[in-house]
Amino acid sequence: MNFPPNFLDEIRTRLPVSEICGKRVNLKKQGREFVGLSPFNNEKTPSFTVNDDKGFYHCFSSGKHGDIFSFIMAVEGLSFPEAVEKLARDAGLEVPRETAAERAKSNRRSGLHEVMDLACGFFQQSLLERCGDHARKYIEGRGLDVETISKFRLGYAPPGNAMHVALRKAGISESSLLECGLLRASDNGQGAYAFFRDRVLFPITDRRGRVIGFGGRLMGDGKAAKYINSPDTVLFSKGRTLYNLANARQAAHEGHPVIVVEGYMDVIALDRAGFKGAVAPLGTALTENQMEEIWRLNSEPVLCFDGDSAGARAAMKAAERSLELLRPGRSVQFAYLPAGDDPDSLIAAQGPRAISDVITSAKPLVDMLWAYEYTLKTLETPERRADLEVRLKKRVSVIADGSVQQHYRQIFRDRVWQVFRNKRVSGNSQKGQFIRSVDYSRRVEQPSTGNLRANVAAMRSRRMQVLLATILNFPILLDEFSEVLSEITLSPDLDKLLREIHHWYAKSQGLDADDLKSHLYAQGFEKIVTSLGSREVMSHAAFARDASDGNDDYTELLSRARKGFEQTLNLFTQARRKQEVLASGRVAAGDGTEESERRFLAFKRVMEDETADMLVGNEVDFD
Ligand code: UTP
Ligand code: MN
Repeated sequence: MNFPPNFLDEIRTRLPVSEICGKRVNLKKQGREFVGLSPFNNEKTPSFTVNDDKGFYHCFSSGKHGDIFSFIMAVEGLSFPEAVEKLARDAGLEVPRETAAERAKSNRRSGLHEVMDLACGFFQQSLLERCGDHARKYIEGRGLDVETISKFRLGYAPPGNAMHVALRKAGISESSLLECGLLRASDNGQGAYAFFRDRVLFPITDRRGRVIGFGGRLMGDGKAAKYINSPDTVLFSKGRTLYNLANARQAAHEGHPVIVVEGYMDVIALDRAGFKGAVAPLGTALTENQMEEIWRLNSEPVLCFDGDSAGARAAMKAAERSLELLRPGRSVQFAYLPAGDDPDSLIAAQGPRAISDVITSAKPLVDMLWAYEYTLKTLETPERRADLEVRLKKRVSVIADGSVQQHYRQIFRDRVWQVFRNKRVSGNSQKGQFIRSVDYSRRVEQPSTGNLRANVAAMRSRRMQVLLATILNFPILLDEFSEVLSEITLSPDLDKLLREIHHWYAKSQGLDADDLKSHLYAQGFEKIVTSLGSREVMSHAAFARDASDGNDDYTELLSRARKGFEQTLNLFTQARRKQEVLASGRVAAGDGTEESERRFLAFKRVMEDETADMLVGNEVDFD
């Protein structure tokens, strides 16, 4: 049986070799190729290579070489027609019957690519003409320049039958235009009308860069949908296509991160900001097929979501979808935009730096799931804690890959254990829960007495810790001190923590210690928060201790905390002044004058006195 070559080609386009071989062979990405152990020979070193760009596999150990069809024939022992039937099914295509009419039709399919390309050219041209003035203005108004317009082949679909007329003139039949989804038959048999009318068009290509459909945007507000996409056709299948995939493939090969966003304009904005590996689904949630396609570009793509509740829901949906599909070495990361922004608007308002920050702070799937479940409900009672464990277990059970599943289970078990060991059940949430010392076995550090500079630095850092530990247990102090606190130069990690605290402070209503800690845990600050609650820190500041520790009156504890906090702050500013003097004293001492020498020595003594409390491990307690 003879299959039309363009039909086989269509199957090859839809099914990359790595996907077909990947079902049999555990493939690892290596540059532009994939490698794995030969399915034909028993071997220890991988000699089986797959190249999606070229569309073939090559096995160095057996010398076997071929495309998806010969692979299936070889490993499943099928005949060629059987292999074609099987793969056609995988590709969601029907095997064309061998009738003359069918053959004519499939010959036309290859012609359809040409039709789409011609149409694309027509729309591009229309954008430049008088009829496209308002569209051009619209596009320019959205900040796109000529290069971008031409790279993405943006166009304009005029109203009326201009496209129809132009393409008929170019010798394209009406039935081809209908089949491509460019024309639509009207219900009343009054002839066909253009599918896209008076819209800005974003051509959608297949993985090889051939135009297979369009997205069309309404300019301004109207009653019609803001965007419409081409209907599914022989060439175009919405759930199997990603906007900008062809460009992103190239970019991913060149080392760009692969970023998944929601819309056409977001992809284009990212490209302009230097992130060339952006793709978008076409107005729907990511399908399994699209996920697989994305993973072929990069094993840990970044999924970008709006920072609002709709974005969070979409993120959870994507997380659920990916969980089932995880395999060793491949996962997804989650990045959240500031609420109210999409990548396009964020870049327009704040420049490429802002989106770069969002992308680099993407969190792995495991953290995203943990944060979601951990913050879903408070964890005051044993029953709620058990519920958290049940929910996590349920998530993990969805993972199909055994070894990935096992590692997820392990990580969640560890985290639950760690958190509950450090968190006391407390009925009084107003008082907050105390993050207790993790490791009592560790001794209080003793800064070396030999080095004044090191002592001063150690003390400074200890005071920073004390300040933040106090805030963690009494976030209400932020009302009074958040501004002064911002003026202190903190170490980078504490500074990062403080910034997150401020972030929480800005949007939080209750200023509850539990709430703050949950938030910080969810944001990945678990380790540093725990260390701030450790004995090493607390032994220097009894006042910073959590209110739920004991039966003391909360108001009294708070006032004690406030006093201690204030005094630590004062020491900070005093120390800074002293250090300034120290610096000037040093310079003066270099002069060798008696006066400057005396001043320097005096100052040194003061500094040494100040470190004394640390050297003996005394508590800096202000009661
Ligand atoms: P958005 O509504 O977020 O639009 O839809 P956007 O991408 O920010 O578009 P601009 O910035 O207003 O131009 C996100 C994506 O959802 C699909 C489109 O693919 C769009 O890019 N969508 C949206 C539709 O398919 N139909 C619609 O009516 C709206
Ligand atoms: Mn937008």
